[in-house]
Amino acid sequence: MTTGSEAISMATAPTGLPRHVAIIMDGNGRWARSRGLPRFEGHRRGVQTLRDIVRHAGRIGIDYLTLYSFSSENWSRPAEEVRELMSLLKHFVRRDLAELAANNVRVRVIGERDDLAPDIRALLEEAETKTTRNTGLTLVVAFNYGARNEIARAVRRVAADVAAGRLPAESVTEDAISQRLDTAGIPDPDLILRTSGEQRLSNFLLWQAAYSEFVFVPAYWPDFTADEFDRAIDEFLGRERRFGGVPAAAGA
Ligand code: FPP
Repeated sequence: MTTGSEAISMATAPTGLPRHVAIIMDGNGRWARSRGLPRFEGHRRGVQTLRDIVRHAGRIGIDYLTLYSFSSENWSRPAEEVRELMSLLKHFVRRDLAELAANNVRVRVIGERDDLAPDIRALLEEAETKTTRNTGLTLVVAFNYGARNEIARAVRRVAADVAAGRLPAESVTEDAISQRLDTAGIPDPDLILRTSGEQRLSNFLLWQAAYSEFVFVPAYWPDFTADEFDRAIDEFLGRERRFGGVPAAAGA
């Protein structure tokens, strides 16, 4: 284990720094319950952690940071909690968009937009268009996102292109599918991190996670810090990624 500052120096080394880190921000509700607070307080504090981690990821030179902010399954939560999460998103975009834009952050949104309220859709689109020319960190907000839904929508696009004669059936390759996912043009995540001790993917980036490394940390999301982010990167740097091949020495 290293301290936060040592971790940063490792993380900024020219080789090995993950290009794309994706985070399942989990444990807001348990954080609140453990303090006798309403769940909403956990989400509210979670937004503060989100801000800290976005700033930190940009500072240390991560290219892409994806945050699982609202899953397509989250609609099944009590209506009041869903309303609160929507209002936090609106508040976040209204309050933070100027700072993100000024810090050269580019915002991309993945997930199903069709069933979102018009004001939410408009805000998400505004965040994307206002930052589209930025060249620093790309912040990918997964909102109303579910990987199976994303894959199904991509397959529908493939089917439409085949039916219209734009795509020969034999050209339906992995790339052809990747290009029709919401994440088109974004490299697959190198590291997927989940807080709160749970160890599952929960319908997040199923296609893109084929060769991702996973790090699970016990902290609830509102307690998660930049130092813990750096420690997760340290752990990632210690892993050997083989992508289905053999270790470099064994192949010699
Ligand atoms: C999981 O905690 C977290 C979420 C469902 C959403 C994450 C949302 C935020 C950090 C705030 C919203 C921010 C934006 C920008 C939309 P949980 O409620 O599942 O926690 P639990 O498993 O302890 O109940």
